[in-house]
Amino acid sequence: MRKVTSKILFIIILNTILVQALTAQTKTINQKVDSVLSLMTLDEKIGQLNQYNDDWTATGPVTLDKDKRGQIQHGQVGSLLNCMGTERTRSWQKIAMQSRLKIPLLFGQDVIHGFKTTFPIPLAESCSWDLDAIELSARIAATEASASGIHWTFAPMVDICRDPRWGRVMEGAGEDTYLGSKIAYARVKGFQGDKLGELNSVMACAKHFAAYGAAVGGRDYNSVDMSDRQLWETYLPPFKATVDAHIATFMTSFNDLNGVPSTANKYLLTDILKNKWGFDGFVVSDWGAVGEMIEHGNVKNGYEAAQAAINAGCDMDMESRDYKNNLEQLVKDNKVSITRIDDAVRRILRKKFELGLFADPFRFCNADREQMELNNPNHPIAARNIARESIVLLKNQHHLLPLSKDTKTIAFIGPLVKAVKQNKGFWDVEVPGTDSSFIVSQWQGLENKVGNKTKLLYAKGCDIDGNNRNGFAEAVKVAKQADVVILSIGERRDLSGEAKSRSNINIPGVQEELLKALLATGKPVVVLINAGRPLVFDFTADNAPAILYTWWLGSEAGNAIADVLFGDYNPSAKLTMTFPLSVGQIPIYYNHFNTGRPAKNDNDRDYKSAYIDLSIYPRYEFGYGLSYTTFQYSKLQLNKKKIKSGEQLEASATITNTGNYDGEEIVQLYLHDLVSSIVRPVMELKDFRKIKLKAGESKTITFVIDKEKLSFFNQQLQWVAEPGEFELMIGASSRDIRLKDRFELVE
Ligand code: GLC
Repeated sequence: MRKVTSKILFIIILNTILVQALTAQTKTINQKVDSVLSLMTLDEKIGQLNQYNDDWTATGPVTLDKDKRGQIQHGQVGSLLNCMGTERTRSWQKIAMQSRLKIPLLFGQDVIHGFKTTFPIPLAESCSWDLDAIELSARIAATEASASGIHWTFAPMVDICRDPRWGRVMEGAGEDTYLGSKIAYARVKGFQGDKLGELNSVMACAKHFAAYGAAVGGRDYNSVDMSDRQLWETYLPPFKATVDAHIATFMTSFNDLNGVPSTANKYLLTDILKNKWGFDGFVVSDWGAVGEMIEHGNVKNGYEAAQAAINAGCDMDMESRDYKNNLEQLVKDNKVSITRIDDAVRRILRKKFELGLFADPFRFCNADREQMELNNPNHPIAARNIARESIVLLKNQHHLLPLSKDTKTIAFIGPLVKAVKQNKGFWDVEVPGTDSSFIVSQWQGLENKVGNKTKLLYAKGCDIDGNNRNGFAEAVKVAKQADVVILSIGERRDLSGEAKSRSNINIPGVQEELLKALLATGKPVVVLINAGRPLVFDFTADNAPAILYTWWLGSEAGNAIADVLFGDYNPSAKLTMTFPLSVGQIPIYYNHFNTGRPAKNDNDRDYKSAYIDLSIYPRYEFGYGLSYTTFQYSKLQLNKKKIKSGEQLEASATITNTGNYDGEEIVQLYLHDLVSSIVRPVMELKDFRKIKLKAGESKTITFVIDKEKLSFFNQQLQWVAEPGEFELMIGASSRDIRLKDRFELVE
């Protein structure tokens, strides 16, 4: 007993010392911030709230500046974006060091899915459901970016989206709030590391706050209107997950939310983010979003725009210049308090101290480290691994895949076969001083794989868009000489991304006609579909014997695709967004409400919630993805059938690899709250496991269900779990439910 007491005493003392030390360190930073703040003029304070684009490149409508250099020299700029490389960042930082108080600049960049080493687009990565691999991907991106002078990435984008017409779905993690929150957390941890200030860490930025992915019609920048309950239940949780991961910054979204543009939305930026969630970082507007409120119509001019934004809680103005041009007058007019200005400046200075920039403004400007990290041989290996894990096997009739390595002749056809940069997708980074030689095209990947053992034939066949069929004959001729045809088709990479909403999401041009011509040769055809969003491809889905959805896989695309084609990696990815049968079905998502007249199947549509001219089902559902092997689910056991509010329930199941290939299975746990004070989705993802199983191997997994997993926001926006029955489902997708049971929450 005495031993235990002294041990507890020791732990308490140690803890006290640690807390005091930490407080001392934090107090030190806060003290330093306050001491700098006390020296600043109002003009210099406003300067910290001002962010300009460097002239290197632009990711928005450019406003050229006459004397950016002079403004930096006078401490009137707090940050630059799109400024990369140790040389260029060092040169700008040197100018900032000429200012009176020598406050260092922050350099921000959209490092969305890799810096030089390019990873799969985030929507593709999300289909890996591999949180460790996703974190590593962000970690490597941060390592390369920080080695090139970048302090801050405008990522992760954590907008939930149920509409593939919206081009920016490629940046996110799909339609599900639970998975999206887990991925958001992993990405922040990857970018920021254990704590800011490490050389390999960059500040992350949760964007776009909030509900940008719910734009009406899937049209970028369009309005969003929803109940607070829907906002809290579906769209906010991934942002809250980033706060839980101690994210350094947030970015406002372009859209108006329930009539109030996010950049001036006090409910979002102050009431929820800073007050309720306790966020202590800073908020930057999206590009020009402060000034764009004049277009929105909630303000008359730049003066009112700056007033609305700063008072709502937007701390930094990206590129609109309305803060720079109006805040001094707003303070003089008592329209903006100096307290609010000081709060915004403190938040920004605190991050600059945490990054170590006051101690050494050039600590991220080491050219030797830059060269080392940008050429780190481990980075492409990680990129290849997660790229393989992101490829979704949609169809594989008669086990056409994997291809035999003894195949004599392969015809590799299509407009994307020899494309290089296309594989990087949208939001790639053109790193200064690098070329594209490190990007592995799909053709190169196949050559690397087969060497001189297999004869490779090539034909482009057609362009990505347009209706030129002149290349069909050559493609057919080449196909006839082969044992198997691989056809790589899809979108151009600039058909998804920002300002890339599409009213129809078919495969452009005559690419599916090319497939038809190739199928007519009687040769087996494997189709690779490259895209930044779910597409509609009826002919391909109905007629191609094998389909791999290869998204945009980044700089190791060719090698990853070849690994999957020949079975060196057994595809394990599962869709994180529903693929509609037609654009007319949108929005279509798995976790929908039942309605009062649910159609139970396609033969049950009279006076039911269904289209009279289309199936009620999507082409491919959330959580769908095939493997070269098969998995059996069995022995579902619940350790209890009734639980009280504070108790946990354990549900275990056995998964067996019943096929001939080792593989990985993403086992999904869904719950349905059968009766509650408001209607609940027919199912909600509440947990998952990605498990590796050798052929013939079985593993038992256990899910733990607690009150958190049973809770939801009720009509009063209270986070509650209500007594009643729940249906528990374990499956290989949201439609392929293998095991079911029920349990009751008794109070
Ligand atoms: C763009 C994007 C945003 C990006 C910013 C800076 O308009 O909306 O995601 O981080 O501008 O490039």
